[in-house]
Amino acid sequence: MSSTVVPRTDEALDELIETQTEEFRRRQARSRDHIDRAAASLAGAATSNWQIAEPHAVWMSHGAGSKVYDVDGNEYSDFHGGYGVSLVGHAHPAIVAAVGERVRRGTHFAQPTQDAIVVAEELSRRFGLPLWRFGNSGTEATMDAVHLMRAATGRDRIIKVEGCYHGHHDSVQVSVLPDADEVGPADRPNRVPGTNGIPAAIIGLVDVVPFNDLDAVQRVLEERPDEVAGMILEPIMMNAGIIHPDPGYLSGLADLLHAHGALLAFDEVKTGFTVGPGGVCGLTGVVPDLVCLAKAMGGGLSTSAIGGTSRLMELVANGEYEQVGTFNGNPLAMAAARATLTEVLVPDAYARIERLRNRMVEGITAVIDSRELPWHVVTAGAKGCITFLPEPVRNYRDFLRIDGRLGQAHWLVQHNGGVFLPPWGKVEQWLISVQHDDADVDRFVDNVGRLGHELAGAGAGSD
Ligand SMILES: Cc1ncc(COP(=O)(O)O)c(C=O)c1O
Repeated sequence: MSSTVVPRTDEALDELIETQTEEFRRRQARSRDHIDRAAASLAGAATSNWQIAEPHAVWMSHGAGSKVYDVDGNEYSDFHGGYGVSLVGHAHPAIVAAVGERVRRGTHFAQPTQDAIVVAEELSRRFGLPLWRFGNSGTEATMDAVHLMRAATGRDRIIKVEGCYHGHHDSVQVSVLPDADEVGPADRPNRVPGTNGIPAAIIGLVDVVPFNDLDAVQRVLEERPDEVAGMILEPIMMNAGIIHPDPGYLSGLADLLHAHGALLAFDEVKTGFTVGPGGVCGLTGVVPDLVCLAKAMGGGLSTSAIGGTSRLMELVANGEYEQVGTFNGNPLAMAAARATLTEVLVPDAYARIERLRNRMVEGITAVIDSRELPWHVVTAGAKGCITFLPEPVRNYRDFLRIDGRLGQAHWLVQHNGGVFLPPWGKVEQWLISVQHDDADVDRFVDNVGRLGHELAGAGAGSD
């Protein structure tokens, strides 16, 4: 019998989530013990709200190579990658050596060490911007970018894309992951606070636009002449699945903003090293005024960077803008970043990731095709996701149409099948590290096959 179009029933999906949730709980008894104990001293029994997920947080023991191990002793192929940090995998020998060597010679002086120069030179080479500074998190990098755009232009307003996440400082906690009933008109999205505690006055300084819509940006710039300092965006959106820019969108933004005396900042905190050695700048050749980096740059240690044009970074150099921080350029983080950039994320590593990316795409696409599932695969270098819709997603409104239960079911099936992914699955899926191999990818693809089988029902597609 030829494969039939899969009628995904609500009941099949709900039932799958229920049985997989039971299985999850059965496997995570020790995590629950940790949560019970932690509840008395850690708010929400976790160290970040993102770790509090349904059914509950997974507490980790250790990682090695492409694998992580939870406190219950379960092994996973780690495609979570710590939200995009672990591009080098776990305990990579080059990072262990660099950090081990540094740790014995002192880890903090609040003065620069030579590794900072090597890292800055490498970032200049990869991203095409001459001058750099370091911080400790993606949030700090995008905060400095917004401040710098304001300092350089003497203007207060910024433009932000609906559905982009740039960390948790005030100016960017607007329309991050708003619900469908909050978003307002598609061409003039509402400003939706991302959390409580953000002053209305600051939210009022943010104009929200849809991704891939140059006209919306032009309209804001024309309606607010000489008021907009600049625009910040993820040049490939990666906090609402993966959404690629239309051809010409990024260069069009640069032209538009510059024509109105405003600046452009790329938040490459997620894309930075994962989509290629020089991030989206390297892929597209569009070099903005400012680039923000973090996550994968530190090889598992917390660090971040902001790079800019000579004109903008002169404001940092001469103190007109105070880019500061006790831990900026921390020697331990710089040693790890130096090893990450010069020894690990080298051309061979990117070639390996590309081979695994192809294997992943082919494997999942074969499952989708054989069962005629209304889904498709989207990738950008080491990052990828299954979009649970047949048609392309071009902006956040399209993303909202995805049934979140499919992401949840996928996440649970992967988890119980030995693949660790970011909880709950709708916003973000996989990161391939330099230490993954074919068997890791095949484990992932097999789990997608199982998901397809469960949702397709008996008789649909081939096994
Ligand atoms: C695109 C982007 N920018 C900024 C951030 C904030 O980074 P951090 O969590 O290190 O502050 C994130 C975090 O996920 C991110 O995805």
